[in-house]
Amino acid sequence: MSTIIAPRGTRDILPCESYKWSYVINTAAETMNDFGFNEIFIPLFEHTELFARGVGETSDIVEKEMYTFTDRGGRSITLRPEATAGVMRSALENNLCAQGNFAKLWSYGPMFRYERPQKGRYRQFYQIDAECLGIQGAEADIEIIDLSIELFKRLGLKNLEIVLNSVGCEKCRPVYREKLVNYFKQHESELCETCLNRLDRNPLRILDCKKEQCGKISDNAPDIYDSLCDECKDHFKNLRDGLERLGFTYKINKRLVRGLDYYTKTAFEILSGDLGAQNAVCGGGRYDNLAEAAGGSHLPGVGFACGLDRVIIVMEEQGCNFGEIPAPKIYVVARDDEARANSQIITHKLRANKIAAVNDISGRSFKAQMKAANNCKYICFVNAAGELELKNISDGVQKNLSLDEIIECLKK
Ligand code: HAM
Repeated sequence: MSTIIAPRGTRDILPCESYKWSYVINTAAETMNDFGFNEIFIPLFEHTELFARGVGETSDIVEKEMYTFTDRGGRSITLRPEATAGVMRSALENNLCAQGNFAKLWSYGPMFRYERPQKGRYRQFYQIDAECLGIQGAEADIEIIDLSIELFKRLGLKNLEIVLNSVGCEKCRPVYREKLVNYFKQHESELCETCLNRLDRNPLRILDCKKEQCGKISDNAPDIYDSLCDECKDHFKNLRDGLERLGFTYKINKRLVRGLDYYTKTAFEILSGDLGAQNAVCGGGRYDNLAEAAGGSHLPGVGFACGLDRVIIVMEEQGCNFGEIPAPKIYVVARDDEARANSQIITHKLRANKIAAVNDISGRSFKAQMKAANNCKYICFVNAAGELELKNISDGVQKNLSLDEIIECLKK
């Protein structure tokens, strides 16, 4: 029988790496807290309809990337490909924005998309997600972008760049859509096969195509800003003014439409890295019609998601700090076999005093215990009579002390 391995596109985050993940998540938790965002936990699976109607029937995610199955009760269930639709569903179901209230929510966890795996692209990947629900004005968009930049600054990412666009709303987008279709139809023979398919279903996505031939055609496509309604124009101006007031510079990219159908008005990405090797470390935008698509009443929203797997790769490339590698503070070494029971008792008491302590539980020799104690700051030697000696590794000083004295010394 062959050994079972992890499914394609999934991977284990092993202890040699997991501390980096904890560092990023803890930094995110602190930053979210400083911005007044509250943590929310939502299910890993939802009714398929939520994503089909929310993320959009014409998005790549819904068309070909969802993990969908029928459960034992005959319901169509989908592993969440992203968090925004679930957060919105939860806010509607739990009345988080009743009576004109707003909600600032964040979460993190695994998402699932059936994509072709490669470096930085997995079928189970992780996102840190922030959503601000119930606010129509651009102040919310500004806060969301400010939050994402602050998070990446705290993580030490270099050369951060904000890329912005407005994708219009249900009033002005149909006009723009028509102009685009007319334009692309004149270039039908030059478009790639994917874009040809998008022509009638979702022509805005053609603007986003990375293929050179489509890019050239898109460069001369009608400008969305000529089609924006006054409300969308005002919103975009307020957003830009607000970012400038906070001292941010940004780049406008008229071809940034993003892959999810729910966006209205603001779409943005944050890039980091050296010129020529820029990486998108997060993407987000406004989604004022998602609540209605999910069957609720009007509830505007804006948010972002940062791909944890990719951020960690970019941080590694840029030599960012991941904090201290976790290690116990003290190793309790049994001087001989008769002292083994005492080493377990002492370790137990240190831990009860919230001191990170380990002892050998595998029958290792004195020499092997000393080797294992290598990464600790202190060693406590214990003998069969229960006498203790504390050694500070950094200065080599060794003293006979009582357990209470050791606890006091280590708690300092
Ligand atoms: P998204 O652009 O689809 O947006 O995903 C956000 C981030 O998730 C991407 O920038 C990328 O870093 C990461 N990501 C996506 N797919 C993969 C994958 N297969 N493997 C590794 N990382 C991946 C959303 O998901 C929206 N919900 C963002 C949002 C929140 N908009 C408003 N609120």
